[in-house]
Amino acid sequence: MKKMTKENIVESMTASSIYSRRSIRRFSQKPIEQKILEQIIDAGRVAPSAKNRQPWKYLVYSGMAKKELLSRMRTGIENEKKCPRLPASAHGIYDAENTLKIMENAPVVIMVLNTNGKSPFRQLNADERFAEINDSLSIGASIENMLLKAEQMDIGTLWIGNTCFAYKELTDYIHTDSQLVGAIALGYKAEHPDRRPRKAFKDIVEYR
Ligand SMILES: Cc1cc2nc3c(=O)[nH]c(=O)nc-3n(C[C@H](O)[C@H](O)[C@H](O)COP(=O)(O)O)c2cc1C
Repeated sequence: MKKMTKENIVESMTASSIYSRRSIRRFSQKPIEQKILEQIIDAGRVAPSAKNRQPWKYLVYSGMAKKELLSRMRTGIENEKKCPRLPASAHGIYDAENTLKIMENAPVVIMVLNTNGKSPFRQLNADERFAEINDSLSIGASIENMLLKAEQMDIGTLWIGNTCFAYKELTDYIHTDSQLVGAIALGYKAEHPDRRPRKAFKDIVEYR
């Protein structure tokens, strides 16, 4: 039998959090202690990144600051309905309104910035596009580290991309030139959803 050292206890916790993590959309109102929040963000800090550029920045919102931020997101979604900047994604507005309600109910929302990224409404050449792909992947790795760390500490999370429907209003409010990649809602879980469906292993792997 494998000897239980501190390292392999952490290793097996990480493996099980990969399988037990779910997107959480109902949170209790119990606040998250600062120390726990910092451990979660620190897990994001040590993620791998393309050329070790570490292109991430995390803005942590709670209380009144979160309320004000999300009122800008609501305005953005309302503007998007009247005068769409993302007309081909209009079918996603209803989902964005739902996501906003979840964010309003979550004790903490972390806004995720790509510090090398440009506005998505700007054209990119191929070099810039490859750099952006790599920076986005790096940020994805960092976010996933945070989600798994949160799961280990029994904190629920939701990874959010629907900030795109209020991109201008949110970046104006945050007052940043960085690219807004998305957000993470966090809080103690008030639901324990079943595992959502996944493609079968055989359908995603080809041995050549
Ligand atoms: C990049 C990304 C963006 C997402 N954006 C949203 C979102 O805006 N709103 C939402 O409710 N869920 C969002 N999700 C959560 C997905 O819907 C969820 O991960 C997927 O349905 C699988 O469920 P699971 O996380 O419980 O396994 C997002 C997930 C990812 C990875």
